[in-house]
Amino acid sequence: MQHIIDQTINFVKITLVNAETGHDWFHIERVYKTAQTINATEKGDELIVALAALLHDIADSKFNNGDEEIGPQKAGEFLKSIGLENEIIHHVQEIIRNLSYKASLGEISFKSKELDIVQDADRLDAIGAIGIARAFTYGGYKNRVLYDPEVKPNLNMSKEEYKNTTAPTLNHFYEKLLLLKDLMKTSAGKAMAEQRHQFMLTYLEQFYAEWEGKL
Ligand code: ADP
Ligand code: NI
Repeated sequence: MQHIIDQTINFVKITLVNAETGHDWFHIERVYKTAQTINATEKGDELIVALAALLHDIADSKFNNGDEEIGPQKAGEFLKSIGLENEIIHHVQEIIRNLSYKASLGEISFKSKELDIVQDADRLDAIGAIGIARAFTYGGYKNRVLYDPEVKPNLNMSKEEYKNTTAPTLNHFYEKLLLLKDLMKTSAGKAMAEQRHQFMLTYLEQFYAEWEGKL
């Protein structure tokens, strides 16, 4: 099994050399490690969890004209090339297909314990200390201000608005990051999310105090 995982790690590293910082190899590595931590309690299939975590962002539809099938297709071709059985390949493809936050807003077409584990691990990387860093990195890339007390968070954005919003980065906490805790599926994921959530609340409290020139 380790040999299959090592080959997959190599493939993912090579494929993501030019990936943007939100979805680079280090994001994959964190999701992979977090998925293993969750799986230690949840006891899903280790190979499926590992392969799905490693391949989940192999092609981002945002940079492929919104084509949601490119990721599963690329992953499938690779897994076939190293000789894996169809059953494993299909399961990994289904997980990748169903993983994105976007997919989770629509109807759920596929369910598995391994999907829950990898999805929780991916969502955990958007919250806590790393999640805060990723949000401000993304905001900087989009030329957004850190915070503007005049611009209130919008909880009813359409997918299109969500993608093109010019709102301050701090709004993203209320529009997405603080909502992720309640979307966790596994109990191990929930416990980790609870801790990271509390950390974000502490961070926000400090942020507002400093904004007012206090503390
Ligand atoms: P995911 O990898 O979970 O599908 P995205 O591709 O939507 O997430 O975003 C990658 C990273 O950028 C995440 O950490 C996310 O929180 C952050 N991000 C996405 N949209 C925004 C935004 N409008 N403002 C700040 N950060 C954002
Ligand atoms: Ni991801």
